[in-house]
Amino acid sequence: MKEKYEVISLDPTKAWPDTFEGMPAFKKITTHDEVQRIQYAQSVLGNQILIIGERTFSIMLPEIYDWDLSTSTLTMSFCDGENLEAMLVEPETHEFAKEVLNSMLCLIISKRFFWYDFAPRNILVSADAIYLLDFEKGLDTNVEHLKLFLRKHVFEEYSSFIFPHERIFAADYVYTLYDDEKDTELSIETVKAKRFKAVAAELGYTGKLKTSELLEIQKLILIAQDPYISETGTFVFPRVALVEMLESQNRSPEVYANYAKLIAQRNGL
Ligand SMILES: Nc1ncnc2c1ncn2[C@@H]1O[C@H](COP(=O)(O)OP(=O)(O)O)[C@@H](O)[C@H]1O
Ligand SMILES: [Mg+2]
Repeated sequence: MKEKYEVISLDPTKAWPDTFEGMPAFKKITTHDEVQRIQYAQSVLGNQILIIGERTFSIMLPEIYDWDLSTSTLTMSFCDGENLEAMLVEPETHEFAKEVLNSMLCLIISKRFFWYDFAPRNILVSADAIYLLDFEKGLDTNVEHLKLFLRKHVFEEYSSFIFPHERIFAADYVYTLYDDEKDTELSIETVKAKRFKAVAAELGYTGKLKTSELLEIQKLILIAQDPYISETGTFVFPRVALVEMLESQNRSPEVYANYAKLIAQRNGL
């Protein structure tokens, strides 16, 4: 069982629990933009409620206690809840956590709150509140193509912690061209993500590939990360180990090639 108040952060030196004037607080090194986005989130989502089963939850944002420009440190209220990612990986809480995740995704889309950091690890749940955290990457108030928002920002983390049949959008919808999207040829050199480049190389692409082919590559990565239930009944979340692998061996020149081999293998290629 995971720690109830486990902090799931990419960088623990950037975000940590603390106190402020005797109150429990949370500090984070961030930008002033994030502070403004928290305030905007409060105005759009702060008085919403979500009903899940027979329970009612208020949507809450952290209260801003202090913003120190000289150290880029945000001090905010401590949100007392369990991390949704930790709840999704436990079989006993998975079903409920999945409802929270899907309801939240519906809510942000319906409120046109296109939150780039939407991910289970950025949502905490208490007995009567759902706390939304982390607005560092950005936010749109409108998107021309929902697919693009999902594809670029949220779908990989969203789908890594729920089973394919539980998703409200299918990978086949997200990783295909939108209506009038041109199937442009791209030079592999211009593909920013090293993971995508490595999988393309593993599949034998050299030089150029089409947008639709790049989307297929993204789908292969997604499929390789699809959660499943093992023969002994445990829930397996392959993304956790794959991210670990990339992070722990980030100095090794072969790590991306090894990653790409695993992705191909898990797709039976
Ligand atoms: N106000 C808060 N109260 C309690 N826990 C928090 C708060 N803000 C963040 N956390 C915890 O810290 C983790 C990291 O913070 P986050 O803002 O997501 O930063 P990042 O993901 O950029 O490292 C979150 O997943 C959450 O577990
Ligand atoms: Mg985060």
